[in-house]
Amino acid sequence: MDLAGKNIVLGLTGGVACYKAAELTRLLTGAGASVQVVMTAAACQFITPVTMQALSGRTVYTDQWDARIANNMPHIDLSRDADAILIAPCSADFLSKLAQGRCDDLLSTLCVARPATVPLFVAPAMNVEMWQNPSTRRNARQVAEDGIRLFGPAAGQQACGEVGMGRMLEAAELLEELVCALAAKPLAGKKMLVTAGPTYEAIDPVRGITNLSSGKMGFAIARAARHAGADVTLVCGPVSLPTPAGVQRINVQSARQMHDAVMAAVPGQQVFIAVAAVADWRVANASAQKLKKQDERSLPQLAFEQNPDILATVAALPGAPYCVGFAAESENLVAHGQAKRIRKGVPLLVGNLGPQTFGLDTNELILFDESGHVSLPAGDKWTLARELVAEIGRRLVHATPGTQPLKRTA
Ligand code: C5P
Repeated sequence: MDLAGKNIVLGLTGGVACYKAAELTRLLTGAGASVQVVMTAAACQFITPVTMQALSGRTVYTDQWDARIANNMPHIDLSRDADAILIAPCSADFLSKLAQGRCDDLLSTLCVARPATVPLFVAPAMNVEMWQNPSTRRNARQVAEDGIRLFGPAAGQQACGEVGMGRMLEAAELLEELVCALAAKPLAGKKMLVTAGPTYEAIDPVRGITNLSSGKMGFAIARAARHAGADVTLVCGPVSLPTPAGVQRINVQSARQMHDAVMAAVPGQQVFIAVAAVADWRVANASAQKLKKQDERSLPQLAFEQNPDILATVAALPGAPYCVGFAAESENLVAHGQAKRIRKGVPLLVGNLGPQTFGLDTNELILFDESGHVSLPAGDKWTLARELVAEIGRRLVHATPGTQPLKRTA
């Protein structure tokens, strides 16, 4: 319920992408938002107010002169309780109206009449030539300058058969952008590096050693950090998870590749969160060719050597970023966690029980710092990731009154 309690005005203007607004309405209400739909006359050519009313559960407004609003001023009434206005799809015509501040229908008047505290987001949707037209480019620049945020557009196949920039983002992408835009920004201006997932240590070209880390916790943290305003780079081992929107992803396989990618990316980072389950050892005698199965007496003999400890190496750098480690233990988490924090030389270490979380959507965290430990109660990884990121944000501005770390239990 990422939008619980939020009032969103969803404006539809004329475009084939109106069909995505139906799905968007479902996603917004599913995320806990109340959705007030306002449509232009052109939008009603593409999808009916009936559909949008059924999906939003609220009367849809299309007319500036709608007498159902008590004071007959829908452009004022509909925006006063709004937490945000999202225009999706936003046509080239509507973008030009916004750029000029024109008020010749309900939706454009409502946008201009919104209080300064109500953010306006627009999701452009138009043909590639229309998007690239100098007038549209100018209008897009102008609305951005006026503080209106553009979500997208994306490039791809268009309804007209042409290909290029101008496709509206998908409903799920718009939800993600809206949730991100409305989130608190305690990490604004900060650069954060995150490692996630397992590593894969080759035995031969077709076999290797890895572990059960799914990457879900690290990906959730990267996403939460981006929502909190950070510029996030995610270095991850082999996982098939989609990259969180707005996060720069670097794929690696082995621990040494992860080490090299991290060391190349670490200059300029303010925070480093090592969530990856990095293999402790790699195969020293990895074979260039596939090992052939022979008889039972000639089993392959693997030799191991230790991988570099990425977290400890970063933590020991002069001017190191604020380092957060993870410990996935199978038992006695409290004792192992504090010892590991000290061994790694990091101010904060997050403990979890590996077998109870690897591959799952839920987790339970214990935070260790120099003054003890505190638990974050069991929850889904997304909720825990947001709590952890908020906690890191508080620790980074420790000196600011009213932003103390969590109360210790030990
Ligand atoms: O020593 P252990 O693997 O239990 O430490 C876990 C923490 O250290 C995690 O934050 C993990 O990402 C990090 N780590 C690392 N490089 C290694 C081993 C672990 O960064 N080679």
